Order: sequence, then C-alpha cells, then structure tokens
Amino acid sequence: MCGIVGYIGDEQAAPILIKGLEKLKYRGYDSAGVCTNDGEKFIVEKEKGKIEVLQKYTDDGKNIAGNAGIGHTRWATHGEPSKINAHPHLSQSESFAVVHNGIIENYMELKQELSEKGIVFCSSTDTEVIAQLLEYYDNGDLLDTVTKIMPLMKGSYALGIMYKEKPDEIIAVRKGSPLIIGIGENENYLASDVPAILDKTRKIYRLDNEEIAVIKRDSITVYDAEKNVVEKPVETIEWSMDAAEKDGYEHFMLKEIMEQPKAVHNTIAERIRDGRIVLDEIKLTPEQIRNFDKINIVACGSAYHVGVVAKYIFEKLLRKPVEVDVASEFKYRDPIINEKTLTIVISQSGETADTKEAMQEAQKKGSYAVAIVNVVGSAIAVGADDVIYTLAGPEIAVATTKAYSAQLAVIYMMAIYFGDILGKISEQDYKNYVSELLALPEKIQLILDKTEDIKNTASKLFARKDVFFIGRNIDYALSLEGSLKLKEISYIHSEAYAAGELKHGTISLIEDGTLVIALSTYDDLGEKLQSNIKEVQSRGAYVLGIGCEGRESLKKCTKSVIFIPKTCDIMLPSLAVVPMQILAYYMARFKGCEIDTPRNLAKSVTVE
Ligand code: AGP
Ligand code: GLU
Repeated sequence: MCGIVGYIGDEQAAPILIKGLEKLKYRGYDSAGVCTNDGEKFIVEKEKGKIEVLQKYTDDGKNIAGNAGIGHTRWATHGEPSKINAHPHLSQSESFAVVHNGIIENYMELKQELSEKGIVFCSSTDTEVIAQLLEYYDNGDLLDTVTKIMPLMKGSYALGIMYKEKPDEIIAVRKGSPLIIGIGENENYLASDVPAILDKTRKIYRLDNEEIAVIKRDSITVYDAEKNVVEKPVETIEWSMDAAEKDGYEHFMLKEIMEQPKAVHNTIAERIRDGRIVLDEIKLTPEQIRNFDKINIVACGSAYHVGVVAKYIFEKLLRKPVEVDVASEFKYRDPIINEKTLTIVISQSGETADTKEAMQEAQKKGSYAVAIVNVVGSAIAVGADDVIYTLAGPEIAVATTKAYSAQLAVIYMMAIYFGDILGKISEQDYKNYVSELLALPEKIQLILDKTEDIKNTASKLFARKDVFFIGRNIDYALSLEGSLKLKEISYIHSEAYAAGELKHGTISLIEDGTLVIALSTYDDLGEKLQSNIKEVQSRGAYVLGIGCEGRESLKKCTKSVIFIPKTCDIMLPSLAVVPMQILAYYMARFKGCEIDTPRNLAKSVTVE
C-alpha cells in the first residue's frame, strides 16, 4: 500500500534509495527504512516517523555502505507504526531482507506454522512471515525459493527481496500490488510507483501478476511463476512528476474511486474464512454482544453517513435499537448510555477531534467502544476498546471515497457476525450475505466500467445551481453521502432529503429545471419512491434516477437512469454510492474546481 524503491549499480545505494523514498512521501507513510548489502552482511536502518529522521541519522544515506539496496515507506496495515514494524524485515538468521507493499491475508496461519517450527518473530507485521518463509525454504537457489513460497501466501504483495549470499542481485515479485523495474545504464532500479525513479530513468518494465524479476547491475530477467523467462516490452514514461504521483489519473480522488474494488476486497478478504466471518481482532465476547441492549454510533461527515446506513442495517438484522449521532452534538447532549450500550466509532483518519472526544464521553459512561478506523495506530484506534481496521490504504483526496466503501464493508461484516451470534440470521441468509459480500468488488468494478457514460451525464448537469438527493430507507441514508460528495468538491448547493419528507416543506424549492437525483435501489419502497419522483417532476424537476438493473419502470418517470447491479438489500449502498462519486467528480471537474483540496476543507479535522 505504500512505497518501495530498490537500486543496484556502481553508485552508493542508500542515498539513491532515500531520495527515491522522498519522492513517495506524498502517499503518506508512518515509517521509513533502507537495507543494503555491503558484500558481507545486511545493513538495515529504519525509523518510525518522517524520512527526515532517517536522513539525519544516516547523513542522507551517506554513512550506509553498499551498492545494492531496497527501501520502503510503510503505511501500516498489520502492527502499529514503530521502528520494529518498519521495513525492511530480516529473516531470523539475517539471510534474507524483504520490503513489502500489500497484505498477506493468511499471515496468522503461516506465522503459527513457522513458530511451531521454532522460528522466532520480532515484529507484529504480516511482512515478516515472507522473510521467514524464504529462509525456511531456502535451498541456495533464490529464484526457486521464491517460486516455492509464492503459492503459500494469500493476498496481495509487491516485494523487494535481497539474499545475503547474492549481493549482486535484487528480486522483485508482484501479485496484486504494482511494481516496476527501472532500466538504467550499468544500474537498474525497482519501484512501486513511477515518481520514485522518474529523475533516474523513464524506461521501465511493468511487472504483471505473479511475475518475478531478477535484477542485476547489468541485466534484468523476468520469469513467470513456473520460472519460464517472459519477454517484457519496454515502456517509456511520458508523464510529468505530477501525473506520475497520481498514477496517470488527473486527481487522487479519481484514482481512489477506481481503487474501491481493491479497498473492499482487502477489508473483507482475511476476515472471511471458510465461508464464515471471523473478527478475531476484537476482544468483545459473544456474551457481551448478547448483553448489549442498544448500539450507539458516533462519527463526523461521511463516516457519520456510514453510521446512518448502519442504523438501518443493524436494526433490520439485529432488532436492537441504534442511535446515530454527529460526534460534535453527541458529546454535549449528556447522552443516555451505559455499560449495556455498545458504541461504534467510525473514522478514516482516526484523528478527528470531535469523534475522539465523543468516544471518550461514551467510554466515561461505561460504554464499550469499537472503532472502525483506516489509519493504524491513530488516536481513536489506540483509545478504543477494540478496533477493526478498514484496509483501504492511504487516502489522499480530501473527499473520501474508498475509505467510505471500506467502512461500509466493515458494517456489513459486523451486522452479519453479530446477527449470527444473536441467532437472528438463518444459515441460508448467512450464506447469501457472505457470497454477496465476496461479490461486491466485482460488482463495484462493473459500475466503474461505466465511468464514460456517467461522465457524459455529468457534462449535461454541471451547471445546475441546486440539487436535491432523495431516497427512502437505506437509499435515504445513502443520499446524505451523495449530497455531501457533490457539494464539497463542486460547490453546488445540494441537500439530501428523505423522499417522503419533501412534501412537508422543502418541495417549495423545486422549480423548473431543479436537479433531483432519486435513489431507488431499495426495491421494497420502489413504488413509493416513484410517487415522490412524480411529485417533483410535476413541479418541473429534472430527475436523474439511480436504480437496480431490471427496474425498467424507473425509466418512465425520470429523464435518465443509471443502473447498478443487483445485490442483497443491505449491501446496495456500496454499489449505489459509486455512480454518485463519479458524478460529483465530473461535475466538479467540468466546473473547473480544485478537486483534491476543496476550499475551506482539511483531510483530517483535529480541532473541535
Ligand atoms: C468527506 O468527504 C470528508 N470531507 C469528511 O466529511 C470526513 O468524512 C470527516 O471529516 C470525518 O473524517 P474521519 O473519517 O477522518 O474521522
Ligand atoms: N502489510 C504491511 C505492513 O503492515 C505492508 C504495509 C505497506 O504496504 O506499507 O507492514
């Protein structure tokens, strides 16, 4: 999820590695490190925090010998940010050094197996198992060892590997997470992202899934997983540094929208084992779950909107009352909660002051707090009684997209897991939910594939001054997010309304040409929503519908419709949010707005 850089050649490696890591800072990271081979042993320097600490400590890398090395900026997914958890990781006898981007989903199993064989681990990362596996299966032939351990690891990885016995080579392996090899003259490079090597070379090989590159000073050989040599085309990068940072996308927001299938996959994959949802990272016991008589959710902004969706889902599946509060209101209203209330706190950054204080207020009243957080080791994650991490990866655009989707995925898992413990879900429903959950990344991708059509719709709508998002039930909860997404980046005035409530006042604002985005994915209330559409249409509104494939009647009462694939009711928001994100993005772009850093907003709001 974060940055890799590697170098082999005649120059001193460490200064090149550290410069390369600096170019990856924009991605966000919590620690940085390098490892070189000085011909006899590995030299590892790593530190928690800013690269500047590493630079100072190593004199910009000048006091680290060796002409070959690998470096990493870490964005923790497993194990808190710390010096010990920072990469590179060494195997027990220090014969292998590894940097890794991504997640090894079955690392717990592998770690246990290796521990039983007497291997001692020193970090709490998933990455360390890779180094230990390499050493355990080492037969002197590095390529062979790598191909042996690849099928053992589930998940995604981009790896830079060094072997003490072979100081003249670096091995690169890719599965899922991107990796490129930079081609130089008598020197070669390795990187997870183009910016790391752009000022050194523009000629690259892009590794495909399950490919392995053996990189030497004067040669690069790429193999497939069966050790057959693969001929790779040389690609010349024409991007500017700015475009390279966004992987060729014009904005981080669009890049992050496109990353949603992966963010959702990563969040659910290691928590679904043999068809069951396993939340073994939480200490909350089945008995505690049975004893709660109320759920209390606190969050801000988009995370609060996830909470509103969660209210509908939890109440439907668990039949327990749920209160959702905006964190800044919750903490000053002397909420009625106690030790029988479960508090769920949702935050991408884990540093939002209002949310953190609301959580503390709940804990003070005896409530048990489970946090859903994206940034490992953040204040909310540390302060909560339990934490479930979303594995969306670093999010840079101020407007959240992939973190929102990953938070929803956690809500579904919690609802199904709790529902099962409470005996409220039949075995058949459980199976259906799990299979729909597993299918979400693919269905999200089907919507992303329609980006051009949605862009076209946006091109016709971006000049509107007022927009209303309407929906019922879970569609209403979702309309809150659609509206926020649009207003925060396009500066178009927009409001979300429960469709049935409109006629109690706000309908007076509907006039000729007012844009109404009608969410009609929740089939049970489809007819009722259509009546609300007719109410606004007869007052001149231009209605854009969003509904599930098959709801042809929606075409009759709207100007245009965006169809999404079908899924079970509770998971509809994960699909319906995607066209709204794309629509908001392109409406803002057609208006010429500053998309990634909208005016007056900050990514993380650490003040009250
Ligand atoms: C939404 O796009 C964000 N701009 C904002 O509303 C955000 O969701 C909110 O500030 C909460 O942040 P957090 O998830 O980091 O706590
Ligand atoms: N999962 C690894 C860790 O937590 C790699 C994280 C990354 O990609 O930076 O250390």
